[in-house]
Amino acid sequence: MADVALVPWEQNAERAPEGVRAVVYDGEGEPPAEAADAVLYVVPYGRGQRLDVMAGMPRLRAVQLLTAGYEHALAALPDGVALHNGRGLHDASTAEHAVALMLAAQRELPRWALDQTARRWAPHYTRSLAGSRVLIVGHGSIGAAIERRLLPFEIEVVKVARRARPEQGVHPVADLPRLLPGADAVVLVAPHTPETEGLIGARELALLPDDALVVNVGRGPLLDTGALLAEKGRVRAALDVTDPEPLPADHPLWDAPGVLVTPHVAGGSAAFYPRARRFVDAQLRRWAAGEPLANEVRAGG
Ligand SMILES: NC(=O)c1ccc[n+]([C@@H]2O[C@H](COP(=O)([O-])OP(=O)(O)OC[C@H]3O[C@@H](n4cnc5c(N)ncnc54)[C@H](OP(=O)(O)O)[C@@H]3O)[C@@H](O)[C@H]2O)c1
Repeated sequence: MADVALVPWEQNAERAPEGVRAVVYDGEGEPPAEAADAVLYVVPYGRGQRLDVMAGMPRLRAVQLLTAGYEHALAALPDGVALHNGRGLHDASTAEHAVALMLAAQRELPRWALDQTARRWAPHYTRSLAGSRVLIVGHGSIGAAIERRLLPFEIEVVKVARRARPEQGVHPVADLPRLLPGADAVVLVAPHTPETEGLIGARELALLPDDALVVNVGRGPLLDTGALLAEKGRVRAALDVTDPEPLPADHPLWDAPGVLVTPHVAGGSAAFYPRARRFVDAQLRRWAAGEPLANEVRAGG
């Protein structure tokens, strides 16, 4: 009998290999009756990720997320079930957005957009990316994709991760106090863990030079919102992720000086979907062949 897998897209069901019966569940409403037999659940991508429905899948052995971050799923994961994340699927999309945020902030695109709305022609020359030094904090899959995109802008990239990788020129996070004073911009793209919460707080912001830019495409809590607001525009920020999220309409971050906000959209652009569908196809083929699935972040029982 074929193994039942719940997949989010029709295309994956159509291309499912022999040995896997792929049933579509896109996260709308309740799962189909076949969920009771599902051994693999590919959680639909979107704001309301349906993790609660795992309670109705007693035969479940593996869960595949389509997000890179997985901390939100750990509590809901039944015992003995393996967890896999979407590492790699968001690299192009998130890196592109990080670069877009940097360009928008340095070349003042929000100002020009407002001027266009007001039909106002008021030129002045802006900052530039060229010649700047940029720290990438969280030099993993997405961080490396950001670096590849930044280098042609004639930028000096300084790489930071949890642990040093001297052969790749990666600094350990403990070097941050030494590196921050020389940075024109800092890009945050580490996961949200107890260690990264408040990674950039009042002390770290104070070490940055005047007018430095903090870009956050990782998770909101990496940057201490109160500490950023207390900078009153001395340090600027371009944030795809915020703390809290969603940002309430009356939150001071919306109109804080030098702050640009996008509503957590970096990873989910059009670039994500073809990559995600190909990845789900490949995971189903691995499952059918009895091979280990890629991107395991928690082993099953
Ligand atoms: N805004 C969006 O739409 C969006 C989209 C996709 C992902 N994300 C976020 O981006 C994060 C990174 O994704 P990824 O696929 O690049 O993950 P990844 O490949 O696992 O890389 C994570 C990097 O963060 C580093 N790191 C972990 N703890 C750290 C710490 N305490 N201090 C400094 N660096 C630390 C790791 O260092 P080591 O190499 O030393 O372990 C690694 O280099 C995700 O967890 C998610 O939260 C956001």
